[in-house]
Amino acid sequence: MTTSSTNHTERLEALLKEGRVLKPSEEFRRQANAGDPAIYERAAKDPEAFWAEEAKRLDWFEPWKKVLEWTVPWAKWFTGGKLNAAYNCVDRHAASSRRNKAALIWEGEPGDSRVLTFGMLEREVNRCANALKSLGVRRGDRVAIYLGMTPELPIALLACAKIGAPHSVVFGGFSAESLRERINDAKAKVLITADGAWRRGSVVPLKASADLALEGTPTIEHVLVVERIGQAANAAMKPGRDVRWRELVDSSSPFCEPEPMDAEDMLYILYTSGTTGKPKGVVHTTAGYLVGVAATHHYIFDVKENDVYWCTADIGWVTGHSYIVYGPLANGTTSLMYEGSPDFPDRGRFWSIVEKYGVNILYTAPTAIRTFMRWGTDWPAKHDLSSLRVLGTVGEPINPEAWMWYNENIGRGRCPVVDTWWQTETGMILITPLPGLTATKPGSATKPFPGIAAEVLDEKGQPVGPGAGGYLTLTRPWPAMFRTIYGDPDRYVEQYWSSYSGKYFTGDGAKVDEDGYFWLLGRVDDVMNVAGHRISTYEVESALVDHPFVAEAAVIGRKDDVKGQAIAAFVTLKESSPSADTLKQELKQHVAQKIGPIARPDDIYFTSELPKTRSAKIMRRLLRDIAEGRVLGDTTTLADPAVISKLKRQYEEKGNSE
Ligand code: PRX
Repeated sequence: MTTSSTNHTERLEALLKEGRVLKPSEEFRRQANAGDPAIYERAAKDPEAFWAEEAKRLDWFEPWKKVLEWTVPWAKWFTGGKLNAAYNCVDRHAASSRRNKAALIWEGEPGDSRVLTFGMLEREVNRCANALKSLGVRRGDRVAIYLGMTPELPIALLACAKIGAPHSVVFGGFSAESLRERINDAKAKVLITADGAWRRGSVVPLKASADLALEGTPTIEHVLVVERIGQAANAAMKPGRDVRWRELVDSSSPFCEPEPMDAEDMLYILYTSGTTGKPKGVVHTTAGYLVGVAATHHYIFDVKENDVYWCTADIGWVTGHSYIVYGPLANGTTSLMYEGSPDFPDRGRFWSIVEKYGVNILYTAPTAIRTFMRWGTDWPAKHDLSSLRVLGTVGEPINPEAWMWYNENIGRGRCPVVDTWWQTETGMILITPLPGLTATKPGSATKPFPGIAAEVLDEKGQPVGPGAGGYLTLTRPWPAMFRTIYGDPDRYVEQYWSSYSGKYFTGDGAKVDEDGYFWLLGRVDDVMNVAGHRISTYEVESALVDHPFVAEAAVIGRKDDVKGQAIAAFVTLKESSPSADTLKQELKQHVAQKIGPIARPDDIYFTSELPKTRSAKIMRRLLRDIAEGRVLGDTTTLADPAVISKLKRQYEEKGNSE
């Protein structure tokens, strides 16, 4: 593990100066879903009883027999229970007084919109479920989904859940190659995609990428194609393989019995970047996941029956899975989804959506908040944001200034801000304030959710004292935890459960202050967090060395005021390479093509050598010092200290790439 200790020290120092505390209002507490502080004690005393109580939020076809079976690191929750996630998210609401309540409000980027009530959503999900069946999908078969943010995306997820086919969603911003890798790892039978997606007024050619990916995916038998863009050329259909959503789904029966699933049956796979090797297929199962996301959504966002709740994430990431689709819909909440970018057609788009639909709860990312700060207060000031009641943030550490800006300019000082820490692997929010109960400190995710146990440890596994930095671990299982890495249980054990015996290692640095508040410091491994997207340095390096002119590459995440981190690559070229200057753009483009535009390096530096230890390990820590303009840290372990001094000189002379 390489640590970015210098970065962490800087954040720690800044945070230690942060003394503001915002007390929750008594008025909010009185009406809050979690208004009684005893919830913490009750859950700590008997976590299993706490989760058993929360499990009553769901409808079960057969009750569970045991809350938890735990043989480190293998967890089984609610064993013996049978249920269906789609039934819980849709059918049971459609059969209740919520039938005509909006389940999904969708806002398209060009300005079109669609509202689906629970009754309508039930019919659409059933049609899609029957269409998948007619394409040969059976319980247990994996379905890959590569779509933009249109209603067909949650419909497809729920249709898979309805028939017991685990879905594997691939974010629409990933490349053909990334899609192919994920399809092959999951051995998916069917792919659901679209002719394209709208992004900032232009078309993301999903079907063209999918066609490229499908040149090397032997398990895919059929492709279901949504027509979003309506440009025939973008949706060339391959006879026998491709079928249009409009033709197959729309003509399928709107009735479909839910498949009774075991509590521990797989609900989905979602790939995420690790420190080494290929992306990991994080496996989530049915009952524990649904209980976890429903309970956290209920308490943390304080959702009421008639609220409009908006999580701005893309369903291609775990935030969208848990807090656009499964959590809110399990709770019968109206969940809003927006297709496009926050600056289309102008920088007021988010605020005009809040005003248009009377959004009550807004959940977004620090990188978005920092972007809004840069755009200025005039944009939100132009809109009526008085409907807002709770504000959430997720995805990366939030700096106190951004937190305060959000609180003042969006919440207008009235709305509790919940900074929620969690991961693809954790499935649900684990460290967060409870609005109405928790006094907040800007920049701190505050405390573990009731029933969750977290500890900050040093290298040797000893708890660190208040105020000191260390490694964040979770010391007790929780229902929505991932169960394994798809097809690679050894990696599950090694990567997450081997650093500290019996404890889950998060890969994050943190400190706990005197009040027991957690302050997240960022990743301590080689995973970058770029605009809230998790990208491994290893993947970007692999993409670079795949280019014929590149001999070696070292990639680091350097500090960036808006994106949190930006990608900087240090590259050595083969001797036969053409002039370096013309290559920068080409290499950036190459990475975007290999992984996806989100992984495109911001800076590329050419160097004749990379700084290495005597055992030939690249010292990224020193590269980070260079890229962030700091004095070099300890260089004594370098094989040749002259390499780094030369690189630093060169860097300072040339400045920051182009
Ligand atoms: O480093 C932490 C950061 O995002 C990582 C998880 O990324 P991913 O699996 O893509 O899931 C993102 C959305 C749940 C974590 O290891 N992270 C997430 N939320 C926070 C955070 N860092 C600080 N504060 C947060 N609130």
